[in-house]
Amino acid sequence: MENNNLGPETFQLLLQKCVKLLRLCLLMLFIVVSILCLLFFTQFNSKQAVVIVKAIDANELWHPAKFTDGLTENERKLFIYGKELIIHTSIYLGPKGKVMQNTNGMNCQNCHLEAGTKIWGNNYGGVYANYPKYRARSGKIEDIFKRINDCIERSLNGKAISIESKEMQAIKIYIESIGKNVEKGIKPKGTGIFELPFLDRAIDPQKGKELFQAKCISCHQLNGRGKWDENKNEYIYPPLWGPNSYNIGAGLFRMSRFAGFIKYNMPLGASIDLPQLTDEEAWDLAAYVNSQPRPSKDLSADWPKLNEKPFDHPFKPYLDTFTEEQHKFGPFEAIVIAIKKSKK
Ligand code: HEC
Ligand code: HEC
Repeated sequence: MENNNLGPETFQLLLQKCVKLLRLCLLMLFIVVSILCLLFFTQFNSKQAVVIVKAIDANELWHPAKFTDGLTENERKLFIYGKELIIHTSIYLGPKGKVMQNTNGMNCQNCHLEAGTKIWGNNYGGVYANYPKYRARSGKIEDIFKRINDCIERSLNGKAISIESKEMQAIKIYIESIGKNVEKGIKPKGTGIFELPFLDRAIDPQKGKELFQAKCISCHQLNGRGKWDENKNEYIYPPLWGPNSYNIGAGLFRMSRFAGFIKYNMPLGASIDLPQLTDEEAWDLAAYVNSQPRPSKDLSADWPKLNEKPFDHPFKPYLDTFTEEQHKFGPFEAIVIAIKKSKK
């Protein structure tokens, strides 16, 4: 009973001790918060911020870099213009373009989805780390400018634009920036276009036609010409063939590129987590769409070394004895084996 009988002095002493302890705690909290703030601000203000982004290696799925880290004010402005040009290319360079009238009305983003950042959406994740590089199509070392002009001349069916132009510089800075977290020479998983396994038969345009009419015409239209916006400044749904589509020299004109692209991207909304086409459907759709009329191009300088020609380039000459028809529609496995043998 005596223990519970605390006198007023003992109580006061206890209270004083509590207050002291509380002060000490507050002081410690203050110090910790200050240190955290200091760390936070120095990191965000320093040019070194890029280094903090962990480099991506070959086994990791790609994700875009922290876009504008490490850019100067001027580069940052170009980056923003570059992104705008990727998304709304036609408004600046298309048939009614503000800057020049040079391209077919398509936007880079039509084929490089989410401004070139989507996993397996033909993103630009591997570009900074891999250019300049040797490309078999030209047989030369190509820098990023040459590669961009390649898509302008083929996918956008236009004329190459000047390297010094503000537009080219802006596109280059944008494409480089989003891939800057990738180690040089590495092409991480999820960048570019997915490599679809082959079918053990020829791919079939007739089957593709039925699939196209069931799954694609609500947007790309029965005639494949897509749909312009009200003022014909850019497409709401881009064309898959016809005069305003990519020409026969474009990457998508190769069946493997087309099939791999649509597998995880079409119909609109499809993704690696939500594919909507089987492999067979993707291949047969490629066969149908790439049998329709589209702009031509002189390809005589392409693939100067025959042993570096891809199996699905549908134009002679070849080192092997397969026909143009089989190079276009397959079965592809036998061709790939023949190409491998010829390289030994
Ligand atoms: C009709 C579709 C299409 C359009 C439009 C298009 N591209 Fe491409 N682009 C491709 C294809 C297909 C590839 C080759 C991908 C592959 O083989 O992995 C490619 C490749 C590239 C690459 C090289 C990527 C790499 O990893 O090597 C760059 C850079 C590029 N395009 C930039 C552009 C720019 C800039 C525009 C707009 C001015 C554009 N493209 C418009 C289809 C297109
Ligand atoms: C709901 C509308 C919609 C449907 C359905 C759809 N697409 Fe697309 N497709 C688009 C849009 C929009 C783009 C351009 C994406 C962008 O700019 O972000 C596109 C782009 C494309 C491209 C690259 C650009 C080009 O025009 O060459 C191809 C190839 C393509 N679609 C094929 C198909 C195929 C094959 C189907 C049917 C399996 C299909 N799409 C169904 C809306 C659709």
